[in-house]
Amino acid sequence: MKQILDLINEEAVAAFEAAGYDGSLGKVTLSNRPDLCEYQCNGAMAAAKKYKKAPIMIAGEVVEKLKESSVFAEVNAVNPGFINLKLRQEFLTDYLQKMQADENLSIEKAVTPKTIMIDYGGANVAKPLHVGHLRSAVIGESIKRTGRFLGHNTIGDVHLGDWGLQMGLIITEVKHRQPKLPYFDSSFEGEYPAEAPFTISELEEIYPCASGKSKEDAAYKEEAMQATYELQNGNKGYLALWHHILNVSIADLKKNYGNLQVEFDLWKKESDAQPYIPDMVQYMKEEGYAHMDQGALVVDVKEETDTKEIPPCMILKSDGASLYNTTDLATIVERMKLFHPDEIIYVVDKRQELYFTQVFRCARKTKLVEEDTKLKFLGFGTMNGKDGKPFKTREGGVMRLENLISGINDEMYTKIMENHEADPKEARETAKLVALSAIKYGDLSNQASKDYIFDIDKFTSFEGDTGPYILYTIVRIKSIMKKFQDGGNSLDQVQIGLAAGDSEKRLMLELTRFGASIQQAYEEIAPHKICSYIYDLANAFNRFYHETKILSEENEAQKASWIALLKLTRDVLETCISLLGFTAPERM
Ligand code: ARG
Repeated sequence: MKQILDLINEEAVAAFEAAGYDGSLGKVTLSNRPDLCEYQCNGAMAAAKKYKKAPIMIAGEVVEKLKESSVFAEVNAVNPGFINLKLRQEFLTDYLQKMQADENLSIEKAVTPKTIMIDYGGANVAKPLHVGHLRSAVIGESIKRTGRFLGHNTIGDVHLGDWGLQMGLIITEVKHRQPKLPYFDSSFEGEYPAEAPFTISELEEIYPCASGKSKEDAAYKEEAMQATYELQNGNKGYLALWHHILNVSIADLKKNYGNLQVEFDLWKKESDAQPYIPDMVQYMKEEGYAHMDQGALVVDVKEETDTKEIPPCMILKSDGASLYNTTDLATIVERMKLFHPDEIIYVVDKRQELYFTQVFRCARKTKLVEEDTKLKFLGFGTMNGKDGKPFKTREGGVMRLENLISGINDEMYTKIMENHEADPKEARETAKLVALSAIKYGDLSNQASKDYIFDIDKFTSFEGDTGPYILYTIVRIKSIMKKFQDGGNSLDQVQIGLAAGDSEKRLMLELTRFGASIQQAYEEIAPHKICSYIYDLANAFNRFYHETKILSEENEAQKASWIALLKLTRDVLETCISLLGFTAPERM
């Protein structure tokens, strides 16, 4: 169905035309003075220049035409030439009824769906997820869900880091600890064991240990680099060990991402792009895109209009080894071949921005992508602690995501148990949902590119611009609806009626903004716009709720109409939070 603003625009366009002016001048926007009007049109100001006439006169003529429309209750021309508009109650109610009946709550699915790949998550195998990975997972998941809701073919790819030095480090450390394992015996001909020689907790201890040693011991680091090189060049034992690392680690990552309600369509890894590298390198050489520079193979990517130095994109190091660049370019080749995306969106720390500028320019210049394939970088800022420095544990170490989450779960659990007597088991489940809303909303309500302060006290509060506040609002609605049903009423028959008061009309107007808000959040890749929309909506609902005695209303038709309005509010809020990546409990 059409969005409300489009319907209103059509009226204004027709009125401008009927008054003898160019219809395209009749553009309506949401009012920035809600105390005066609901919508406004400033077209008469632009018309004044074009038709050399006083804007207020033009506004007056258009207003006369608009008065005939069934959409507006009030239309006023105000100096110097604004047109202020208020909607007719019947029009608004009719729109909301249609919205409720529409399975997508007014949003039309894309007519020509795009294939959009989202590269997010970006965890590194064998390293525990830390808070740095939280943002990518949370933001990427929301972008993916929003695109999908609008009817696009979205493909989320975790793009695990599994091919770099961290692998060589682990192999080296395992070799030092258990040199007798068959993986290190080059004459071994048999089958390697099916069982991994370490558990996930051992693996998580092995990596930091190896990484620490390599920083102090040059020979150890040399050994790890050699192991990486051999792994990448097909050492059979190392490959078998690497498979164990992958299996153990991916099982753990799946569990952790699952707890965050983050679901990837593809569990691809850097190593999956390796088979594409030789042909890609050869192609770049043959076509004359790549050239040798101090022994390394590079592609120049600077442009005349650059205001800062953009270094060449390095394809192969002087020893012939491939790099992070090489893998990302080969991944583009792979993605084009397998999925032919219209768009690839990378949700990565903004400190990698220059790097992605190089990669994108190189991919374009060397025609790895077609001209109309969009490559977008959504760089996110750092998650800081209250001291304004990158978030750390109390001891100053890197905070593991698992610990962060379980800490917040516990805090939410305590709060819920303090609030009212609850069944401990149910309270645990509820606490998980509320904690997730606190974490995700706390992150997503900030513009992604900005650094933000991870303020647990603020994020877990049931008041203010927080996830728990939104959930609390949803739960409040659900509880009223349940009481209504417990009184022997059905929800199927209820219909939204005309607004009885001001706060009710405000709530209705907020509900109609749903479609445009989601559309805008999608187009601008800006999940924070969904947050600010539902915050406004939740506030409008709570104002209405505090002014209205819903369940004790004696006029049954009136009560049913309010319940219908609540139902739509719940549906819109729940749809929005599902796009943000969390869900509401039944009670809390
Ligand atoms: N694994 C990388 C890191 O931890 C992030 C990967 C981002 N995606 C990409 N295609 N490079 O920094």
